[in-house]
Amino acid sequence: MNNQYRAAIVGCGSIGQAHMQGYERIDNIDVVAVVDPLAPAREMYKNQYGIPEGYATVSEMLQSAKPDIVSICVWHLLHDTVTAEVAVGPTVKGIICEKPMAIGMGRADVMVEVCEVNGVKLAISHQRRFTPGWEKAHQLVEDGAIGIPLRADLRVKEGLANWGTHSIDGARYILGDPVAEWVMGAVERRTNKFERDTAIEDSCMGLIHFGGSLQFFIQSDLWDRNCDAGKFFIRGTEGMLHVTETVLKLFNAETKGWESIDLGLKDGDQAIGGNTNAAQTRELINWIETGKESRGSGRIARETVEIMMAIYESARQNRVIQLPLKEKEYPLDLMIKEGKFELEDTERYDIRGFLDRSKIDENRYQQIRDDGIPHHQAMSIVHSEMGTKGIKPAPELNSLDRSEDS
Ligand SMILES: NC(=O)c1ccc[n+]([C@@H]2O[C@H](COP(=O)([O-])OP(=O)(O)OC[C@H]3O[C@@H](n4cnc5c(N)ncnc54)[C@H](O)[C@@H]3O)[C@@H](O)[C@H]2O)c1
Repeated sequence: MNNQYRAAIVGCGSIGQAHMQGYERIDNIDVVAVVDPLAPAREMYKNQYGIPEGYATVSEMLQSAKPDIVSICVWHLLHDTVTAEVAVGPTVKGIICEKPMAIGMGRADVMVEVCEVNGVKLAISHQRRFTPGWEKAHQLVEDGAIGIPLRADLRVKEGLANWGTHSIDGARYILGDPVAEWVMGAVERRTNKFERDTAIEDSCMGLIHFGGSLQFFIQSDLWDRNCDAGKFFIRGTEGMLHVTETVLKLFNAETKGWESIDLGLKDGDQAIGGNTNAAQTRELINWIETGKESRGSGRIARETVEIMMAIYESARQNRVIQLPLKEKEYPLDLMIKEGKFELEDTERYDIRGFLDRSKIDENRYQQIRDDGIPHHQAMSIVHSEMGTKGIKPAPELNSLDRSEDS
């Protein structure tokens, strides 16, 4: 890591901050530019982080700022087109694109291909792969601490593509990135629910079968209010693991009960944030310099997209879906177009719509921020004061009989 790198961030919203905080921790990277069509968003980043250049478009930025590494921090439906545009930038060597990688296999494949053709290393920001709990769990599984892995139990909320992508990708990482063979899924959509402009389900579940006897079961927006994309229960022939990003417990013949594994964490260590973003950036740089693929590569992440899309496609076709998935579009969108769902409430709402900065009262936003209120909360307050339509938090989890326990 001796070369000096120039970085740019596309999308000056919430998660771009974590990318910035990652870059700040690496000596041989200078963030030279940001891109956002909204001037106040660009200015906020420039002022807060002392970034010299701000652009309204990616093409202007690529020509003038000449970045080596670009963070793509825009909403999901833009990930493929922005990646394709950035990858042809003459100076670009690496991209870190946010999750979910893409909405539909066609889009994910375009991202991998355009980067390969242009010699650009593409990493997807499943940054939890770099947390100590997941790293140690990965190592324990590799060392045989639970024998042959049989089952991973995943519970998420606020959309399969939103949280489920972290969870499926994370369980794959811990278990050595096994290859999925078939998927069976069920999907419910009774309300006109979106997340960052992407149509999503009210709830869903999927059984994912890998080679050998390994299966994942994922439930999304069904049960467990305390669920977290970072938390798994994994069972093998010789033991079990409870995994979070910062807590790891092992049960096998040697531990004689549940044993907490020391992760060497200090008080105040964050689960995710600048630290994990820095780690994934270092691994991308190593990939650029040595050719050793990052654990978060687009090639690996596309398989997580494939599993999610196969859950939807299974519900669409009412059958088990063998992989590789043939459908290239977003099966949930296709189901909506095909009239598969009968909506009880047709009013469109977006559970992350409060992040939309395009029509807010910027003066009021600034006043609220000046009072020390963080970005997310400030955006919610401004939208609620303006009475913006179509912005709702995620409804309570599906109202079947559920416990509060995780
Ligand atoms: N890895 C994680 O843990 C994590 C966490 C949060 C969000 N995300 C992902 O990050 C992405 C962005 O989410 P967010 O919460 O930061 O959204 P956000 O709304 O806070 O920020 C998005 C920004 O992109 C800008 N933008 C829109 N179109 C653009 C374009 N063509 N070029 C440049 N900028 C453009 C918007 O003006 C806005 O400022 C989403 O895909 C989300 O899923 C990932």
